[in-house]
Amino acid sequence: MSHIQFENQSFSLAKEDVLTVLLNAGLEIPHNCRSGNCQSCLMKATEGTPPDTAQQGLKETLKAQSYFLACQCYPKEPLIIERPAANESRYESVLISKQWLSHNVIQLKLQRPSGFHFYAGQFVTLWKDEQLGRSYSIANLADSDLLEFHIRIIPDGRFSNWIAHEASERQSVQLQGPAGDCFYIDDNLDRDLLLVGTGTGLAPLQGILHSALKAGHRGQIDLFHGAIEPTGLYNSKQLSEIEAQHEQVSYHPCVLKQDAQTTAYLEGNISELVLQNTSNLASKKAYLCGDPELVKQLKIKLFLAGMNSKEIYLDAFEAST
Ligand SMILES: Cc1cc2nc3c(=O)[nH]c(=O)nc-3n(C[C@H](O)[C@H](O)[C@H](O)COP(=O)(O)OP(=O)(O)OC[C@H]3O[C@@H](n4cnc5c(N)ncnc54)[C@H](O)[C@@H]3O)c2cc1C
Ligand code: FES
Repeated sequence: MSHIQFENQSFSLAKEDVLTVLLNAGLEIPHNCRSGNCQSCLMKATEGTPPDTAQQGLKETLKAQSYFLACQCYPKEPLIIERPAANESRYESVLISKQWLSHNVIQLKLQRPSGFHFYAGQFVTLWKDEQLGRSYSIANLADSDLLEFHIRIIPDGRFSNWIAHEASERQSVQLQGPAGDCFYIDDNLDRDLLLVGTGTGLAPLQGILHSALKAGHRGQIDLFHGAIEPTGLYNSKQLSEIEAQHEQVSYHPCVLKQDAQTTAYLEGNISELVLQNTSNLASKKAYLCGDPELVKQLKIKLFLAGMNSKEIYLDAFEAST
């Protein structure tokens, strides 16, 4: 049993993490993934030392100031904790433009804050206000003054509907991060790459594809983008153009169900389509993005088909709980 103090209240923890204890007490604590990825639940210890496991993935400057992730914190000693100063962990940005890419996906462009460095494919948490934040993957290269995101509008989704229907140009948005290891590294320009995602899982894959091409990647790059119907295959024209311009790129649009008139797409379950249409998996590096179930299942299938699990990078779009 350990103890924490927060905003003049004391809490005892049996086996729970700090975030769970505070939420169970009815307190409003920002959070999102609850798995140590998004950093939305960042807090600061003003007395006591948070465990190392609660500081994994944080910048050294934050660690030095005893910041920690509440969802990963199982204290080994009593802690007095407080909410983070917003300006310690978040960047100020503004909304530059919004554009519909399909009936339910919006492209969002934000100004890149000065001093904000990232790799295309990493994700950030965007904040509407102190409480409401959600993670989104960066779709463009790091050499731009803008940050591009693809946001699927979820029915009744609080953040995605705010972006789509309320936020307007020059709206201020805070961002936190970047985080995640799903990005291109130019350690072997001849290695074949397998990029697979459904829906807005295309966002990090687009960033990875552009990074690879910019680095002069020579290995084969297979990009599988899946949607339920053809209308969900946004950015299809641009991807076909990239395929036409680069002989090492193959774009494979996949749909669960094809129109009677069109046969331009691969039809069926995207995991099966990937396995049927790729070979030499053992020599490839894979990036799997989007729907968490697809990412989890396909990772297992690729491993069983011979791929080294260390060469499989994941960006699972877990919903906030
Ligand atoms: C690392 C990471 C990267 C991400 N990158 C992207 C990205 O690039 N683009 C993108 O569009 N999203 C991305 N997401 C998902 C995003 O963070 C939000 O979860 C999503 O936009 C829904 O937020 P919301 O506030 O609109 O909905 P909420 O208010 O959180 O949810 C409303 C209801 O919809 C349900 N729900 C939430 N998400 C889904 C879903 N996908 N399918 C079905 N039901 C759902 C919830 O359980 C809830 O019942 C990412 C998530 C993670 C963890
Ligand atoms: S890191 Fe704790 S909620 Fe995401």
